[in-house]
Amino acid sequence: MSGWSSAAVTRKRPLPNPISTSTGPGGSNSPARSSARGGSGASTTYERMTSTGMSLGTRALMSPRGASQLHLRQREHEPSLTVLRRCYSLPAMSLYRHPEVYATLLSPEPDVFEHVLDWIDVYLDGPLESVMDPCCGPGTWLLPFAVRDLHVAGNDLLPQMVAECRRRLGEAAELTEGDMRSLAFETGPFDVVFNLHSSIGHLPDLSGAAAHLSSVRDHLRPDGLYFLGACVYDGALVEEDVHVLYESEPMYIPSGGMAAVRYESVRRDPVRSEETIRVQLLSRDVVECPESFEEEYVLKTFQRDVLRGLLEEVGGFDLLAVHAMEEDGHPDRGLQSNCGDVTLVLRKRP
Ligand SMILES: C[S@@+](CC[C@H](N)C(=O)[O-])C[C@H]1O[C@@H](n2cnc3c(N)ncnc32)[C@H](O)[C@@H]1O
Repeated sequence: MSGWSSAAVTRKRPLPNPISTSTGPGGSNSPARSSARGGSGASTTYERMTSTGMSLGTRALMSPRGASQLHLRQREHEPSLTVLRRCYSLPAMSLYRHPEVYATLLSPEPDVFEHVLDWIDVYLDGPLESVMDPCCGPGTWLLPFAVRDLHVAGNDLLPQMVAECRRRLGEAAELTEGDMRSLAFETGPFDVVFNLHSSIGHLPDLSGAAAHLSSVRDHLRPDGLYFLGACVYDGALVEEDVHVLYESEPMYIPSGGMAAVRYESVRRDPVRSEETIRVQLLSRDVVECPESFEEEYVLKTFQRDVLRGLLEEVGGFDLLAVHAMEEDGHPDRGLQSNCGDVTLVLRKRP
């Protein structure tokens, strides 16, 4: 525990939107990207923690850019899980290897969840009885629906994520271990599907994204909604302005110890349609979790017109709204060029 400032330890994050926003000193909810780019010079929680004795040891841990990325090689979609795992190898140190830590640091705050319920009220025709997440991780977005007695179903490529999701959601949930491009649920069709935090960006190419959209469409009921988080980037040049996407307070982990995380965007490449994300984790006394590590991985981004074309090619969806996740209140801004992290609201045509 030495090195953690007890004043900084909290069980609650004041953030309105995990991953897309950050908070400055005093817990303001100002968007991270604009404040980071504005160069306020204010120290972040993470910096305050490290300056009070938690050393990142960044240089010792840092490998050359790309060396520790999730390796999602270009290849045609193949349904075999063994084959898929071969092309999805996690770096030795990755937050995805610590599902309980991930769930603690990245679960939606109640006010964010209320926001999402409002969207469902606005856009969903008919009752809400079932929800599915094709990249469910430890069930961060499914749990608040499960506790409201809705039927929930989740899928993830990583067995440790599915196991943690099962532990948190209980036996009633349908959970599958598989690829988001070929979902295979026995229950459904579902009223609403959530796939936030740009998880679709883990797919290596547009044919994979198309396969994923088709698979989701096939598991939605007519008029069902798909809330899809994606990063829309149409820049002309490679950008390397490092900026914070999300930073948690240090939080207690239920099984013991505490941890904090920071996500940064370190590079955007419009030619390759890729954003490089850096994750830095600090922990104390968390079982089997290193005290600090850093990983980088690449997420695919989408040019606005490419995304439009993809939706047309897949067919069967109407685009109802595009909520800007970086702005307070997440207003519907439509699908604009360069609109950054957004949540698309798609409705399956009857
Ligand atoms: C950013 S996490 C999102 C977890 C959860 N949906 C949330 O919003 O907090 C992304 C998840 O996608 C999973 N994933 C990556 N590629 C996948 C694929 N091809 N099929 C299914 N899941 C995948 C990862 O294992 C990870 O758990």
